[in-house]
Amino acid sequence: MDRFRDDLIARISERRAVVGVIGLGYVGLPLAVRAAGLGFPVIGFEVSAAKVAQINRGESYIGDVPSEQLAPLTRCGALLATTDAARMAECDLLVICVPTPLNVTRDPDLSYIESAATMIAASLRPGQLVILESTTYPGTTREVVWPRLQGRGLAPGTEIFLAFSPERIDPGQTSSKGWGVENTPKVVGGLTPACAELTAAFYRHITNQVVCVSSPDAAELTKLFENIFRAVNIALVNELALLCDRMGLNVWEVIDAAATKPYGFMRFTPGPGLGGHCIPIDPFYLTWKARELDLTTRFIELAGEINTQMPRHVHDLVVRALNRQKKALNGSTVLLLGVAYKPDVNDYRESPAFKVYDLLAADGARVFTCDPHVPSFELHDGQVITTMPLSDDLLASCDCAVIITDHRAFDYQQIVTLAPAVVDTRNATRAIEGPLRAKITLL
Ligand SMILES: NC(=O)c1ccc[n+]([C@@H]2O[C@H](COP(=O)([O-])OP(=O)(O)OC[C@H]3O[C@@H](n4cnc5c(N)ncnc54)[C@H](O)[C@@H]3O)[C@@H](O)[C@H]2O)c1
Repeated sequence: MDRFRDDLIARISERRAVVGVIGLGYVGLPLAVRAAGLGFPVIGFEVSAAKVAQINRGESYIGDVPSEQLAPLTRCGALLATTDAARMAECDLLVICVPTPLNVTRDPDLSYIESAATMIAASLRPGQLVILESTTYPGTTREVVWPRLQGRGLAPGTEIFLAFSPERIDPGQTSSKGWGVENTPKVVGGLTPACAELTAAFYRHITNQVVCVSSPDAAELTKLFENIFRAVNIALVNELALLCDRMGLNVWEVIDAAATKPYGFMRFTPGPGLGGHCIPIDPFYLTWKARELDLTTRFIELAGEINTQMPRHVHDLVVRALNRQKKALNGSTVLLLGVAYKPDVNDYRESPAFKVYDLLAADGARVFTCDPHVPSFELHDGQVITTMPLSDDLLASCDCAVIITDHRAFDYQQIVTLAPAVVDTRNATRAIEGPLRAKITLL
């Protein structure tokens, strides 16, 4: 009866289990590389043929995965990328790491998960473990993935295994703060106890702590709660920033002082708006689900309202900074410093820079962008913008520079010295002292 479970436990413990990772993006590629590095045979499934070719050449397109780490694994065949979904039958474990965006009406778009589950179902065989890692609302594993696998008539927990285990990696953190796949605890919720046991057994190789919860739904909600916790606290501190602006107080000074309390306080900082693939999107997965249960998640909605105001506030700060120089926004040249949604990464998904760009351009500003990590990007209307290298001439010729992302690569002394006015949304200029500070409008 436990033949498949016992066999899989043995394969996992001896690192013989063939690991299939579906979706080789920010989440999937680091996992695939980690598993292959540990000795598991890994097949990466990816719909983008260009990404498959790049990985098989040993070239990484994910900042946290150096090509020097990837190349030896692809060279020796430990990690192979493919577009051929039929090869999923070769895998003992299949980990789904596909996107979970919102659709045009800002409702969950589960089409990627649905298509990955359908692909798995096409070649499903007894003894396979399927793990969903994509962030999603409680109920997805049971209500969306399981029905697609169930069609094959295999019994859950004895013949086929299914679990949810959210990914928590924070792109850019691996190198800067030391949190990566190998030391970030994994939460696991299985469809049955055997599903949880097998999933935990796998992740105990990958990371140093595995936390089992009672169901996939609890694991799904855990991930959403973590991100909503951030969204709500960022909203609180953004609201404080708006209030401090009216009061003529420096919000950064207040936060720094509050953060000296050794307990009961956690530091969050204001900014130009939410960005990235998680914090601006994930809360809507829960509000959508809550509506189905006749509940309005007011905290989450309110946080969304405040956070989405921030790009407009940055626009107003630019108007103020120009006004001090007796200039109008219309016709002024504004330099946006940073397009990525957070420092030292090339990820610009949902970046607040775009909203700020649109608002300034709509009022007649000539907007240019600099980002050493983002050579070009696409605006909402499909327009491709090439970023410019930051130079003395560019800074001196603009009317206002706006620090959107506090990349370490920027020289803030150079920026404040040469630009006629600077709007700093990140307190990146905190070290600048003396008369130069008069040029800075701080969020
Ligand atoms: N990026 C993060 O920081 C982060 C952190 C934690 C969780 N997550 C969650 O993890 C999931 C994946 O996010 P990501 O940032 O890695 O996305 P991504 O867009 O970087 O990567 C997803 C990859 O999946 C591929 N793909 C889509 N459908 C596929 C299919 N049917 N078969 C094979 N490949 C397919 C895409 O081409 C893409 O390369 C999302 O649910 C996200 O919310 C992301």
